[in-house]
Amino acid sequence: MPKPIREVLTNEALTGATVTVAGWVRTFRNDRFIALNDGSTIHNLQLVLDPEGTPRELVDRITTSAAVKATGELVPSPASGQRVELQVKELIVLGDSDGETYPIQPKKHSLEFLREQAHLRFRTNTFGAVFRIRHQVSFGIHEYFHDNGFFYFHSPIITASDAEGAGEMFRVTTLEDTKGTDPSEDFFERVTNLTVSGQLEAELGATALGRVYTFGPTFRAENSNTARHLAEFWMIEPEIAFADLKDDMDLAEGLCKHLIRRVLEQSADDLAFLDKRYADEEKQKPEAQRSSMGLIERLRFVADNPFERITYTEAIRILQDSKPYKKKKFQFPVEWGRDLQSEHERYLVEKHFNKPVIVTGYPAAIKAFYMRMNGPGDLGHSDQGPTVAAMDVLFPGIGEIIGGSQREERLEQLKERMAAMDIPEKELWWYLDTRKFGTVPHAGFGLGLERFVQFVTGMGNIRDVIPFPRTPGSAEF
Ligand code: 4AD
Ligand code: MG
Repeated sequence: MPKPIREVLTNEALTGATVTVAGWVRTFRNDRFIALNDGSTIHNLQLVLDPEGTPRELVDRITTSAAVKATGELVPSPASGQRVELQVKELIVLGDSDGETYPIQPKKHSLEFLREQAHLRFRTNTFGAVFRIRHQVSFGIHEYFHDNGFFYFHSPIITASDAEGAGEMFRVTTLEDTKGTDPSEDFFERVTNLTVSGQLEAELGATALGRVYTFGPTFRAENSNTARHLAEFWMIEPEIAFADLKDDMDLAEGLCKHLIRRVLEQSADDLAFLDKRYADEEKQKPEAQRSSMGLIERLRFVADNPFERITYTEAIRILQDSKPYKKKKFQFPVEWGRDLQSEHERYLVEKHFNKPVIVTGYPAAIKAFYMRMNGPGDLGHSDQGPTVAAMDVLFPGIGEIIGGSQREERLEQLKERMAAMDIPEKELWWYLDTRKFGTVPHAGFGLGLERFVQFVTGMGNIRDVIPFPRTPGSAEF
């Protein structure tokens, strides 16, 4: 097997050795110098051909994105910016690539264009960097939970419940036509859908195994065409028994910081590239919309500083005291009882606190049925109306990146909330059972993987941090 270019470029012991590499041609100059990339690193290896020893018909087949395999001596490079290069002794073309029709030319393409070439966009520096970092984040998630005594718990993809009670689900059926057909004739003999969240099942896991987390795809049929919404996205949902809202916030903050530190360590080269890219993008924006920090600077800042923790009631007060509110610059109303919109979240994070913010104690009426009802003395209790032990983590440039809560562990209160929200008890009998047999305080949250990867990579559109985005009207590839 050929050696990964990442290893060839970093392992000093290989200098002087005969090495075989394989990859895709990025550029080819003067019929002599190939910049080869194999995806293992953002850096290319320079291959130097022997002008005499390379037949013309072989030279002609070395085109952009052709796949080649080469063996030669790894020698110190006289060129600047690279420690070593490969003096090629033998080169074969594994797969030709027609330079005329290959859609991705060695020049800057727009992200919109590359989205239409999603099958090939991984061969660009930007997408190579993004997807190597996505891997580092995913791996870091398992690492963090494993090291903290959590068990990876596989919640089902096909479910009969609507965990969020929001009703934005994709139906799963084997019926030709669902209209007028009794669901009992369907495959599962009932109505089923793709999961919107693994939380309810994770609660079942946590109330036996103690600490669990899910990490899988979730699906929402919400018709939102924004830079932060996907119809299919990956969610991480830890759930901990014997824990309250503060424990939940500590876990969320600890996880985010661990992941950022890990990427800073493991993906320094990719980040350096994205940092520059981010700075170039920011320069295109009007001054007022520019981020106050560079990408890497911001990652370090978030990893090293405590997140701000405020209640929803305080958030409303801050927003009502703000300049954009007074100058009527917000598009949506700010009023106790209404949900915070993205513009409000971003004001709090980017203008007011200038760091991640955790908002707790949202009004009960705008949150899901399973959140614990606050009483006097509970964090986030308000005399303006009933609140629940919810928490949202808001990040600069993104807004909500995590949503979570302490769960309602008291059977009577839970039943009351379900009744108020028209959720039939008989559909969630198994969920209610955990409150009947040894119920305990517990809490958890959901982290949107793509939003987190957006934050770490500085990519403005969520479609550019998942290999094959699923959005309304779009399921190519
Ligand atoms: O706030 P959400 O809807 O919370 C839940 O689903 C809870 N059951 C989580 C829990 O407590 N176990 O979603 C959690 C996170 C959001 O903060 C956001 O990062 C992400 O999931 N998310 C989306 N990401 C991309 N596209 C969408 N359509 C998303 N909807 C939510
Ligand atoms: Mg939410």
